[in-house]
Amino acid sequence: MLYLALMTVAPTAIADAARILREGGLVAFPTETVYGLGADATDDRAVARIFAAKGRPSFNPLIVHVPDLAAAEAVVEFNALARRLAARFWPGPLTLVLPRKAGVSLLVSAGLDTVAVRVPADDTAQALLRAAGRPIAAPSANASGTISATTAAHVADSLGGKVDMILDGGPAARGIESTVIGFARGPTMLRLGAVARGDIEAITGKLHDPQGIEGSPGRLESHYAPNKPLRLNATDARPGEALLGFGTNVTATSNLSPSGDLIEAAANLFAMLRELDAGDAVSIAVAPIPQDGLGEAINDRLTRAARR
Ligand code: TXA
Ligand code: MG
Repeated sequence: MLYLALMTVAPTAIADAARILREGGLVAFPTETVYGLGADATDDRAVARIFAAKGRPSFNPLIVHVPDLAAAEAVVEFNALARRLAARFWPGPLTLVLPRKAGVSLLVSAGLDTVAVRVPADDTAQALLRAAGRPIAAPSANASGTISATTAAHVADSLGGKVDMILDGGPAARGIESTVIGFARGPTMLRLGAVARGDIEAITGKLHDPQGIEGSPGRLESHYAPNKPLRLNATDARPGEALLGFGTNVTATSNLSPSGDLIEAAANLFAMLRELDAGDAVSIAVAPIPQDGLGEAINDRLTRAARR
């Protein structure tokens, strides 16, 4: 089902969109930067559907959208500097990457201990977030490898049949993505965007450049790595190993999807890896995952995790 709710979004359309989100569906919605492809950030399966719809070759960590600072404080752990940035730039095109609290799907941040949060300024986005009543994960609403969508028509062209609803709030005011700031090693510019560096540095002082797990200039490559060694394409568990299965595999310690459903496997991936990492086994073996659909993204993350 796909329908467009036309400009000056009606309250009934907002209510419909909020219901779709609460039921685990996908809604594309305008923000002041670019259109977002939203799903309930607390629902692993709904988040997995975002990646399936975008056709992403890998799981990039997503931004969680909330209506205000209080809602953001429920999702992540703030520090004093982050609070000052929020006070100055929210609602607006600034994203803050902070330590996660419980509640948001691990798939949202691709297994990382941090979550990116933002309070958008757009009226439709605000109305939707308040009506949904839960944090909404949303990457830019374009197919992977294409430019961000700034109108509802762009979204329909790029993702048309793959979303349940598109809210049309007219062209995005800024047309450029939010600025992303991290704090792991002091205030760091993770992505240049709609808030200028100088405006942020007026509050933070000179920003660091990203490095290591938080990313590198030009290409953010944050990824989750377990503490235990990971062995891929395993057909059985060796002594001391826990086996993470896929499909019909009776000996698996945990199974990403007994029915072989790649969306379910993506939804379970990071939670199960963490569980096995925290368990008694010395190392983790992972069954082969088919390389189609979300399997490509799952294998990409597993390969990175295995490299450590
Ligand atoms: O303006 C925007 O930010 C738009 C609208 C829809 O809000 N969203 C957007 O999302 O551009 P996306 O998924 O296309 O880009 C998210 C960026 C990526 O560069 C990602 O690496 C970074 O945020 N990011 C998200 N979570 C992160 C985390 N936990 N650590 C480091 N970087 C993170
Ligand atoms: Mg994007």
